[in-house]
Amino acid sequence: RLLVHSARQLALVTGAGGAAAAAGPLVGPAMHAIAVLESDAGLALVADESGRIEEFGNNTEIMKKWQDTSFDEVVDANGMCVIPGFIDAHTHPIWSGDRINEFIMKLEGATYMDIHKKGGGIYSTVRNTKNASDEELYVSLKSRLTRMMHAGTTVVECKSGYGLDVNSEIRLLKILQKAKEEHPLDISITFCGAHAIPEGMNSTEAVDAVVNDQIPAVKEMKQNGTLNVENIDVFCEKGVFNVEESRKILTAGKNIGLRVNFHGDELCALGSAEMGAQLNATAISHLEEISAEGIAAMANSGVVAVILPTTAFIMHLKPPPVRQLISHGVPVALGTDFNPNAYCLAMPLVMHLACIHLGMTVNEALVASTLNAAASLGRSATNGSIQKGKWADFVIVNAPRWEHIIYQYGAHSHLIYAVIKDGKVV
Ligand code: NIG
Ligand code: FE
Repeated sequence: RLLVHSARQLALVTGAGGAAAAAGPLVGPAMHAIAVLESDAGLALVADESGRIEEFGNNTEIMKKWQDTSFDEVVDANGMCVIPGFIDAHTHPIWSGDRINEFIMKLEGATYMDIHKKGGGIYSTVRNTKNASDEELYVSLKSRLTRMMHAGTTVVECKSGYGLDVNSEIRLLKILQKAKEEHPLDISITFCGAHAIPEGMNSTEAVDAVVNDQIPAVKEMKQNGTLNVENIDVFCEKGVFNVEESRKILTAGKNIGLRVNFHGDELCALGSAEMGAQLNATAISHLEEISAEGIAAMANSGVVAVILPTTAFIMHLKPPPVRQLISHGVPVALGTDFNPNAYCLAMPLVMHLACIHLGMTVNEALVASTLNAAASLGRSATNGSIQKGKWADFVIVNAPRWEHIIYQYGAHSHLIYAVIKDGKVV
């Protein structure tokens, strides 16, 4: 059991007035109108033995009620704020090498797609990853996950995708599975074998390889219980997989029970959002170039838009139309997109960019980094807000108002007093 006491604010991230949010994302004005409890007299939270939230509220009442209980951990949060742990809805954390040279080339004017077409970008990371041992990949993965955790992340989506052939992709998925079993972070594994067209193949051959070699191998491991993979992804983009090819791959993934969660409408308006809505996707990421029809289609079928402010910022892309997505009722989530092209592990930086660069309010940025990101991974019934019965995942912010975690750009390592995952300080 865990007790956190004497906090000044609890940002519940439930609907206005503290009413329990439905087991789904918040949309439209509800993304802004979240409940935050505040009291100079102090607020407390209790987590039960299984790591779930048992109760929260007035300090004096809770301390009195639990005075005879011995807690495994007690956190004095005097004058601090408690918010739900962040949920990073989109990361590519398993690869080797770096892309510093390309970072420099891009500063000198090269574009992402120029570099990709010349065999750099994803291809250069695939080559480096092939040359790395399982142990090296595991060690670097774990250290990245730990850095995410110290920046307040408690649940993270992790993609494969730097293998591009059946054996290499399965190797990456196995290493992700090992991290899922051994690291305190809750990991949602995504199969992203269709991250690029392998060199020497055409797109038809690449789709065949994913659908006929890779997905059956993933299916077998999923069925025999050695791999807990939850989502299927594809890079649906001009020059990578087109809409019809992406549809085939996503459908094959869906048929083995994976949630559809993919990269769409990032560099070109292809109609990825419309296709995803037809497939009843759980989430679509990027969406810088989404059309008005795409926005309507996503709103209608309740697909979560995973917005990645680092990518638009680093690649000088058109900012994704977050205000339109929210005003049309699309649930918006945020992710770091951590990958060798966008080296950011920290959700507080992402929230700051989402506010300054994309026009989100601080409340919307928090919802998008907690409850709505949980929805993008099918976890909104169990994660993403401070509600009885949900996992006790919190960030304790050492400041008198929770918004400091967004306002003080780059200061999260000083502001985060503790991260709590499943009722334990991690
Ligand atoms: O989300 N768009 C495809 N995937 C990544 C980039 C991966 C890479 O460049 O290595 C993204 O931005
Ligand atoms: Fe990505």
